[in-house]
Amino acid sequence: MVINKNGRGIMFLLLLLVVLAVFAFSYFDINGNSFHENEREYPLLKEEGKGEIVKLPEPSHDGDVSLEKAVAERRSVRSYREEPLTLEQVSQLLWSAQGITEENRGLRTVPSAGALYPLTVYVVAGDVTDLEVGFYEYLPHQNELRLLSLGDLRKDLYEAALNQSAVRDAPLVMVISANYQQTTGNYGDRGIRYVHMEAGHAGQNVYLQGVSLGIKGVVIGAFEDEQVREVLNLSPEEDPLYLIPLGK
Ligand SMILES: Cc1cc2nc3c(=O)[nH]c(=O)nc-3n(C[C@H](O)[C@H](O)[C@H](O)COP(=O)(O)O)c2cc1C
Repeated sequence: MVINKNGRGIMFLLLLLVVLAVFAFSYFDINGNSFHENEREYPLLKEEGKGEIVKLPEPSHDGDVSLEKAVAERRSVRSYREEPLTLEQVSQLLWSAQGITEENRGLRTVPSAGALYPLTVYVVAGDVTDLEVGFYEYLPHQNELRLLSLGDLRKDLYEAALNQSAVRDAPLVMVISANYQQTTGNYGDRGIRYVHMEAGHAGQNVYLQGVSLGIKGVVIGAFEDEQVREVLNLSPEEDPLYLIPLGK
């Protein structure tokens, strides 16, 4: 086929248009919003090609400590030994906060208004055996942790939590955040109180599970919301509700 100079120019223009169209479709959704606008930026994660999944040990449904003893002994503790937590202990504590206890309906260890489950549990891991220092999201259905970023966030989180030393010193800080919309979408403004109640249920479970494991902690509600959101790179729809430093 013979293509003259004008023909080549037209083909080049058509090719350019196709390339531009492919770029536009991959960058914007059907409403013209950039997919990348809502994407969380975890620079460390991206740079190091991480995002890996950490399979958690199966949580136990048995324990030597009676419920009554756990309730009686539960206490807020704000200083810890310089000793790591094990992945088994972390798995058990996470399970108590949001673990799945009925697979079919996806029901969990804590009650939830309309079983809508607006809470997300994160782990700021500083000293946990077999777990890289980093920030992880708990995936209850899979019983896994998803690495969100590498590096120790405890110091920054401590500053965001009004310099409460437990946050800096604990080997691990559990973070409970909420997406209110998930509950207010069904229940209107009343859903806000439901979300707070659910965080309370989760916090109490962690305390009681902690007694059973010999792990101490404290639920912390005093912190700068924006600063915590910034340190953890939470999405704008998510509100941090509790920081729970945990250690021995
Ligand atoms: C909603 C809420 C927020 C709290 N925030 C903090 C906090 O920011 N810092 C802290 O050291 N303790 C905090 N606590 C723990 C209380 O100080 C503690 O429960 C109280 O002193 C009673 O002690 P106990 O838990 O050992 O029974 C909080 C407790 C609740 C329920």
